Amino acid sequence: MNKATDMLVERLAGRAPTVALVLGSGLGGLVDEVADPVRIAYAELPGFPQSGVTGHAGEVVAGDFNGVPVLMLAGRAHYYEHANAAAMRPALEILQGIGITTLMLTNAAGSLEPTMPPGSVMLITDHINFSGSNPLVGEPSDRRFVGLTQAYDSDMRAALERAAQATGTPLHKGVYMWFSGPSFETPAEIRMARIVGANAVGMSTVPEVILARFLGLRVAACSVITNLAAGMTGGELSHQETKDMAPLGGARLAAILREAIGEF
Ligand code: HPA
Repeated sequence: MNKATDMLVERLAGRAPTVALVLGSGLGGLVDEVADPVRIAYAELPGFPQSGVTGHAGEVVAGDFNGVPVLMLAGRAHYYEHANAAAMRPALEILQGIGITTLMLTNAAGSLEPTMPPGSVMLITDHINFSGSNPLVGEPSDRRFVGLTQAYDSDMRAALERAAQATGTPLHKGVYMWFSGPSFETPAEIRMARIVGANAVGMSTVPEVILARFLGLRVAACSVITNLAAGMTGGELSHQETKDMAPLGGARLAAILREAIGEF
């Protein structure tokens, strides 16, 4: 075990979660549902990202979520902050080191489907990496050749679909396309994204999925739709809109996660 792993184990004071959640925009409030929480700022954990995006807090919260021991990561490092697609690698390695086997990722995304408006939740079934980057560039071992044919865990996906049904929460399914950001896409890029088979676009998550598979973690991901993508409405996109609209779908995704968490 490395020092950061030892440190986190010590701070968890006997808690031994196997499931971790990365909370994107709109899901940050979930940390308040953790019973008997231990809260640790990323700044106290060597290797954890020092995130500077407004709306992303930067703390680990561990405890019981609907009766299930979990570790929540409120705040993530984005490629567009650091020009480093592997910015989440040390944190994910530390999670693996403390016994996390299962990773649930959430994010905010723009929709390419008029039938999937702001406030919707989309289960990611597959992704397109359009960033030109990959978190495993520079990894020297042959382990870098990670298969992504079954990247999104089928059992976790089934649990999420059952939870959506049980809670009466609509759950869309689709392909998430990773753009590097931080500028939003152009209308032409969105037309291209539709042609190549994307249903939603965003600036995160894909590098974490690749890293999770590299580390042998089971992974699933859901998007909270905050807007129709560029060119689909008359208006301009903004980070303010993302922050304002995220709680709507965030509440729906929270309902699904409460139900699914014990079934992962
Ligand atoms: N594009 C990229 N990322 C996003 C969007 C979008 O339209 N909405 C929320 N995150």
